Amino acid sequence: MAAPASPARLVVLVSGSGTNLQALLDAVAEHGPAGFGAEVVAVGADRTGITGLERAERAGLPTFVCRVGDHATREEWDRALTEATAAHRPDLVVSAGFMKIVGKHFLARFGGRLVNTHPALLPSFPGAHGVRDALHYGVKLTGCTVHFVDDGVDTGPIIAQEAVEVRAEDDESALHERIKDVERRLLVDVVGRLAREGYSIEGRKVRVPA
Ligand code: GRF
Repeated sequence: MAAPASPARLVVLVSGSGTNLQALLDAVAEHGPAGFGAEVVAVGADRTGITGLERAERAGLPTFVCRVGDHATREEWDRALTEATAAHRPDLVVSAGFMKIVGKHFLARFGGRLVNTHPALLPSFPGAHGVRDALHYGVKLTGCTVHFVDDGVDTGPIIAQEAVEVRAEDDESALHERIKDVERRLLVDVVGRLAREGYSIEGRKVRVPA
């Protein structure tokens, strides 16, 4: 059972509005780093001009931006993202709406401690349009999944899931907002438990003490 140092150091990666990041920041503020078991030490992004970075700056946190377009190859970008993240010595890295697939360098450094949140019940509807795909398929129940990242697209070992009902009148945005309400709570709960209790990953099974 690998128990991160307490409080665990979190680097959070974002690409958009950063409401999942905000939920983590609020939990740390509410309980204190020792009480929550973790603190956010830096926020990284793959683009500039996003609310997620503004939230980090408002919280007085260091930020870094690593854009694919600023690098000659995807591999160089992956190396740069790895180094920028490693500079903050995270125990856990949280991909919270980070819309990029990380590469082999990032996984070599952070595999087994890189947590992602996805707005569907995996293994259904992986990829960038999980909410839209679930809606188009006509499922009555969807939800969110918090999982460790492996080298596939949303295929890593599942830590926790929660269901959300699809309503007849839902469009993608209404459904996504309801999923995000649940997702933020689930992510905060999972990250706190991983940090406080430690965890083990055996094949596809993640064990976190109750
Ligand atoms: C979340 O639903 C996440 O699962 C998805 O994008 C959304 C990010 O929301 N990949 P936010 O940026 O945390 O508000």
